[in-house]
Amino acid sequence: MNRLTNKQIILGVTGGIAAYKSAELVRGLQKAGASVRVVMTSSACEFVTPLTLQALSGNPVHIDLLDTDAEAAMGHIELARWADLVLIAPATASFMSRLSSGSGEDLLSTLCLATDAQIVVAPSMNQAMWRDAFTQSNLENIIEKGVKILGPDEGQQACGDVGLGRMLDVDQIVIEVANLFESHALNGCHIMITAGPTREALDPVRYISNESSGKMGFALAQAAVEAGAKVTLIAGPVQQPTPEHVQRINVVSTADMHAAVFEHLPNCDMFIGSAAVADYRPAQVAERKIKKGDQTMTIELVRNPDIIAEVANASARPFTVGFAAETNDVIEYANKKLEQKNLDLIIANNVADKQIGFNSDDNEVTMISRSGSTLLPKMSKTKLARQLIEQLARHYLLSKQG
Ligand code: PMT
Repeated sequence: MNRLTNKQIILGVTGGIAAYKSAELVRGLQKAGASVRVVMTSSACEFVTPLTLQALSGNPVHIDLLDTDAEAAMGHIELARWADLVLIAPATASFMSRLSSGSGEDLLSTLCLATDAQIVVAPSMNQAMWRDAFTQSNLENIIEKGVKILGPDEGQQACGDVGLGRMLDVDQIVIEVANLFESHALNGCHIMITAGPTREALDPVRYISNESSGKMGFALAQAAVEAGAKVTLIAGPVQQPTPEHVQRINVVSTADMHAAVFEHLPNCDMFIGSAAVADYRPAQVAERKIKKGDQTMTIELVRNPDIIAEVANASARPFTVGFAAETNDVIEYANKKLEQKNLDLIIANNVADKQIGFNSDDNEVTMISRSGSTLLPKMSKTKLARQLIEQLARHYLLSKQG
């Protein structure tokens, strides 16, 4: 399995002898499906050339904090936002000290301050330096701040010493990094997710639909699989690739989506309605292409079934989560939908803002339950989906405890 598919990883390389292994690490992470961008400290460049890592990663290598050209291409704040995870391997004692003190004196340490992604450190140093009280105290401090530590390993060191301090094996680092994306929060759960638009035919070549790309729903499907769920994704007509281990059922109209949802509903533990379902469909679908006629044309529309409301009111109902796409009075309308549709939770997004909502890479949402609301600020739909799935898992487990 490509366990790092769609993951954006910054590999920070610092100046230790194990820096030569970073070339292998770039390859290993990419082979597991990740996109990798490399950030090097200036002393790392003494051990391995930026050109090597640039060629392997397929992206420019970032070194200087004050390089105006590099900042114009992708500045340190953009890099910090881009990352799903920052892996520092090898991490020297000196870098761990900078991380511990929160100093932002080079690009890599500044980026660590600016990112909200998980920081992972694979230490590599002489065994005496590893045992040193300063290093151990820095280690304790960064663990307390949420940094994850991989290794170090024990064995023969480049300097001839034997002991703890070798960088963990590259393959092992890749496995451990992949494990960090798997939360197991939804182990054993069956989740159904609807995504994308529905299309309502007017005639054989025309339809009514909307701008939904499916990005939000597909990101949720991927995040749910990573959290251990069995996922059935009911997808309207979109061009998104199917995430691994997701059962995808393609549909076109609201009637198709309704039928697919109810066919797969038995034994479903959670339902997430992220699809932009057409509320109405033409009363008549012409068998042949409608010909141009008068200056005006009237199309009679009839109501579609409200899929999520029917799911939420089914006898053996799953934990039911809706989305509310609103252009104004977002929270007020979302609260109404939460009640009217009998949902457990609703995720409100403002689709008047072109930077978020329909067909954008980012979203910003407010998750509303009957006990309160949480704002999840603007971020990529991939990151947002992971955060939402963690939160939904928590609410779902609480609901089961009564
Ligand atoms: O697909 P993307 O381009 O990534 O865009 C994501 C999104 C903006 C589509 C997504 O974040 C979102 O807001 N989805 C819900 C869109 C919508 O139809 O919202 P609504 O407020 O009209 O519907 C409320 C809820 O009822 C939704 O869960 C919807 O799936 C459900 N519904 C609506 C009508 C209907 N007939 N049946 C339904 O199940």
